[in-house]
Amino acid sequence: MEKREELYSGKAKSVFKTDDPDRYILNFRNDTSAFDGLRVEQLDRKGMVNNKFNAFIMNALQAAGIPTHFEKLLSDNDALVKKLDMLPIECVVRNIAAGSIVKRLGVEEGLELNPPTFEMFLKNDALHDPMINEYHIRSFGWANDVQLDRMKVLTFKVNDVLQKMFSDAGMLLVDYKLEFGVFSDGEIHLGDEFSPDGCRLWDKDTREKLDKDRFRQGLGNVVESYELVGRRLGIDFDA
Ligand code: C5P
Repeated sequence: MEKREELYSGKAKSVFKTDDPDRYILNFRNDTSAFDGLRVEQLDRKGMVNNKFNAFIMNALQAAGIPTHFEKLLSDNDALVKKLDMLPIECVVRNIAAGSIVKRLGVEEGLELNPPTFEMFLKNDALHDPMINEYHIRSFGWANDVQLDRMKVLTFKVNDVLQKMFSDAGMLLVDYKLEFGVFSDGEIHLGDEFSPDGCRLWDKDTREKLDKDRFRQGLGNVVESYELVGRRLGIDFDA
């Protein structure tokens, strides 16, 4: 697979074209951003850790019957993925209250949400990713009803798989964000990445934060915590 020109550079990953019109290469960089890109830092090893973490999770989701764009690891920082037409929607599931819902609804951090709650946000940095509902999505044509339904079903299926996986490894999956896109076969696939950059994970016993909140809140040991989470899942970052 030949890596060709860079198509897009996001806050933490870059996307490259390949010689196959249906495949892209995702490059995981060390850049770590928070607060809509207001704060950006380089964290040693983060690109490699998130690339391998994402590969492990995407393979597990694929094995559980969830279509994902992930195909294979190409190197420490590169992964081969299917080219998707991304839908401009972030799907969030919350099992425990933390982050924006705490501020928005005035609920206590750590409150268990039973059943888990589902929210959607428009992917738009200039507007700070505003929360949207299904009617907005229909009225503005950001997705059709079949796609919307599929995204919701897949987002909750991911919860079933990953809540158990993290729980078995001594962690709580507090919340996470997923993005979806349409492949050339017309099917919705999970895109983007799943890593501690885009979810919240707490130690089950101590409730210590092991995710990107360590960066957002200046708690230190950011990549060390990501690696700890990965090792608890059985990921070998030196392989
Ligand atoms: O900030 P908020 O509490 O709404 O985030 C919910 C979850 O979605 C968190 O796990 C956060 O890391 C993730 N998220 C993300 N990218 C965004 C917004 C939220 O990965 N742009």
